[in-house]
Amino acid sequence: MGNDVLERVEQRLAKGRLGGGQDKIDRQHEQGKLTARERIEQFLDEGSFEETDGLVEHRCSDFGMGAKKIAGDGVVTGHGRVDGRPVFVFAQDFTVFGGSLSETNAAKICKIMDLALKVGAPVVGLNDSGGARIQEGVGSLAGYADIFLRNTIASGVVPQVSAIMGPCAGGAVYSPAITDFVFMVEQTSYMFVTGPEVIRTVTHEEVTMEKLGGAMTHNSVSGVAHFAARSDTECLASIRRLLGFLPSNNAEQPPARACSDPLDREIPELDGFVPADPNKPYDITTLIRWAADDGDLFQVHEHFARNLVVGFIRLAGRTVGVIANQPAHLAGVLDINASVKGARFVRFCDAFNIPLWIVEDVPGFLPGTAQEWGGIIRHGAKLLYALAEATVPKVTVITRKAYGGAYCVMGSKHIRTDVNLAFPTAEIAVMGPHGAVNILYRQEIQKAADAEARRAELVAEYQEKFANPFVAAEKGYIDEVVLPRTLRRKLVAAFALLATKRDTMPPKKHGNIPL
Ligand code: HXC
Repeated sequence: MGNDVLERVEQRLAKGRLGGGQDKIDRQHEQGKLTARERIEQFLDEGSFEETDGLVEHRCSDFGMGAKKIAGDGVVTGHGRVDGRPVFVFAQDFTVFGGSLSETNAAKICKIMDLALKVGAPVVGLNDSGGARIQEGVGSLAGYADIFLRNTIASGVVPQVSAIMGPCAGGAVYSPAITDFVFMVEQTSYMFVTGPEVIRTVTHEEVTMEKLGGAMTHNSVSGVAHFAARSDTECLASIRRLLGFLPSNNAEQPPARACSDPLDREIPELDGFVPADPNKPYDITTLIRWAADDGDLFQVHEHFARNLVVGFIRLAGRTVGVIANQPAHLAGVLDINASVKGARFVRFCDAFNIPLWIVEDVPGFLPGTAQEWGGIIRHGAKLLYALAEATVPKVTVITRKAYGGAYCVMGSKHIRTDVNLAFPTAEIAVMGPHGAVNILYRQEIQKAADAEARRAELVAEYQEKFANPFVAAEKGYIDEVVLPRTLRRKLVAAFALLATKRDTMPPKKHGNIPL
């Protein structure tokens, strides 16, 4: 009798494993997509997947649905391991009713989210769905809302990652949008609230799906997605790499790895690397890589707001979140997009005990009506708020320019940064020398016999006074002026010192970050 039941279970599971059938699996492959099960298999450590609710069916009998039931009902759920650590996963199965979300299918997703929250493990959602199961109406909408609530409750407790590997449209986009990191696959995935057809009717704009909501649009224009991959396989490997930097939950420290890169390694190339001329660009990622263990930098939001670089490195085997102005793009200026990008990353790191390294070379905030009317005041304040609020270990290195309000924002001592270092090339001032001289000495320059010669003299005088780290160091706003070649050693020592740091915010329900 017992064996008979097991056989029947196995038969039903085997049928369910075929999803919508071979034809639909072939169609999925023709489109360059893997199936839900293939994705899970590639994503998790080999043989580690334990499926839950493989026999769940929908309960809808309208529109002839009573006769159409497929075990699992369009989403594969369960848990497994990534590098030996537990991870919960759900993968929408496009071969079953277009991966559409039914009441029972949503309940499966909620079930693993609830368990993930209790055991403290990340949730990874692989999205590929036609949206709300049309036949189920409000039952499906309720399912979405149940998921949104759990996304919100889990935010800051366990890492949540979404991969968009097919359609993701309408309200369905809001679950990925709440999660910490969104991956998209080029050419096969898209996200939008309303599609090209509706847009044509309402605003008379002509736009393709790819241009409206494809992977590169959301990676480089809207900032909705943080990562773009060329294939499902690359996407899944990238998520594994990301998880390797993260703790499983907010009560854990990030995982530590053995480090064979010498902790006191000097970087002689760095001594002449930062150009003394404040207008000359250089690539900050080179500096970050030189300092990091094994030259490894995992950028987040790489294609968005490239004037700010954010991402993960390891120092002495431990994860560090980096936020750095990028002089090679728009001179590293802070604008709306860079502020929002930085603020979200800083808040993720702070929520998950990941120390922050702030690398500063910033001319200020970007001028212009587009920025002012777009709300640079509100958005810039997000970055300031996030960095001031963060209680994880914070180390700032000023490589060159630290001008104006941006000096205060980018991890200054005054917003409780623990260790503030400056290269000899650092310039800490209210503004650049030319701007300052034009304001302070306009009349004097106009009256001078040789205006340009007088201007040059005054600029040199201002530079002598402010275009260096000394005034800030004399006031104790900079702890140490360091030789660039010692950067890695100094960082390793600072983060080791700060490993036991404790700091808090006063008790409150939550702050009111200027959203
Ligand atoms: C039920 C669906 C479905 C849905 C697709 N299918 N979407 N079944 N509910 N939402 C079914 C199709 O009927 C078809 O079944 C199979 O899935 C594959 O779909 P195709 O259309 O053949 O695939 P394709 O040509 O690749 O087109 C994919 C698609 C299209 C662009 C996603 O299916 C589509 O437009 N679907 C409807 C999208 C939509 O409007 N959803 C509601 C959005 S609003 P058969 O049996 O023929 O193979 C929403 C609100 C969420 O989601 C609210 C949250 C708050």
